[in-house]
Amino acid sequence: MAEHSPHLRPKRLRLTAGIRSMVRETHLHISNLIAPLFISETAETKQAILSMPEHYQLPLTALEAEIIELQSLGIPAVLLFGIPAEKDEMGSSSLSASGIIQQAIRLIRNIAPEMVIIADVCLCEYTDHGHCGVLQDDFIDNDRTLDLLAEQAVSYAEAGAHWVAPSSMTDGMVYAIRDALDRSGYQEVAILSYAVKYSSSFYGPFREAAMGAPQFGDRKSYQMDPANGEEAIREAAIDLDEGTDLLMVKPAIHYLDVIYRLKTHFPETPICAYHVSGEYAMLKAAAEKGWIEEEAAMLESLIAIKRAGANLIVTYYAKAAAKALR
Ligand code: PBG
Repeated sequence: MAEHSPHLRPKRLRLTAGIRSMVRETHLHISNLIAPLFISETAETKQAILSMPEHYQLPLTALEAEIIELQSLGIPAVLLFGIPAEKDEMGSSSLSASGIIQQAIRLIRNIAPEMVIIADVCLCEYTDHGHCGVLQDDFIDNDRTLDLLAEQAVSYAEAGAHWVAPSSMTDGMVYAIRDALDRSGYQEVAILSYAVKYSSSFYGPFREAAMGAPQFGDRKSYQMDPANGEEAIREAAIDLDEGTDLLMVKPAIHYLDVIYRLKTHFPETPICAYHVSGEYAMLKAAAEKGWIEEEAAMLESLIAIKRAGANLIVTYYAKAAAKALR
């Protein structure tokens, strides 16, 4: 017997799986997961995305099977990104009732009426220059972009989207979209604003998948500086003031402190975190090399995002997590 035997032994509550589960503070549920999907207007068959194993550019003809699989796994929501046949300087193909996302929304509404349909609202997949708004010289014309975002959001609502998710970091986008939705009779359509979106190097695989990389320059003049944490509160406060229903933080793992700050500051607002393409690709690559155990690393990442304060998680691991959680 040691002379100084500790009285306080936290290990007592870790002794068995049953005890650990009784004192577990954070729980990940399938109902917390949102699955991102890439819908292609030009692909004839599912096109594998090389930097995102197990993800595809899906033609509409492959969407039904995908939705049925997601539904059978209990995943409640999808976040849609479009790859259009035509691009121009103002992203017009995203505004038409026959646009790829509008078609996808109507299809999903038909085959899975319970599925929550979230449409990403941004221009970068639809502009020939790949920036998230219309340009004035080499910069985004913020206020002209607002009208286009509002029109895109109304068009998605008309097609049947439940939520619209503006991701372009255009100042005033939430107000412009809320106002346009309300005037058009879509008061019940919610806004999930990417209020806090960083200019991150972890979006690379997504830009390959959605074919929306900027053709010149970068997004630093509109997305946030990774060095800033206080500013996240200002961004979130503005978007709440403008009428967003939920707040998104993106990326997730390198920004857990930001998620925590928002949850602490706005405890009454649902927070969503986007576990982005680069975060997925890194886990996949290390797992492929046999350097980490994929399922455990995935679940640890997702539980960390929830522990930080996220209520919902957009993740390319939605299906794998749903399978692991069942
Ligand atoms: C479009 C958009 C991007 C992502 C989501 N919406 C790309 C970007 O801002 O460059 C990235 C998602 C991911 O990496 O998984 N604005």
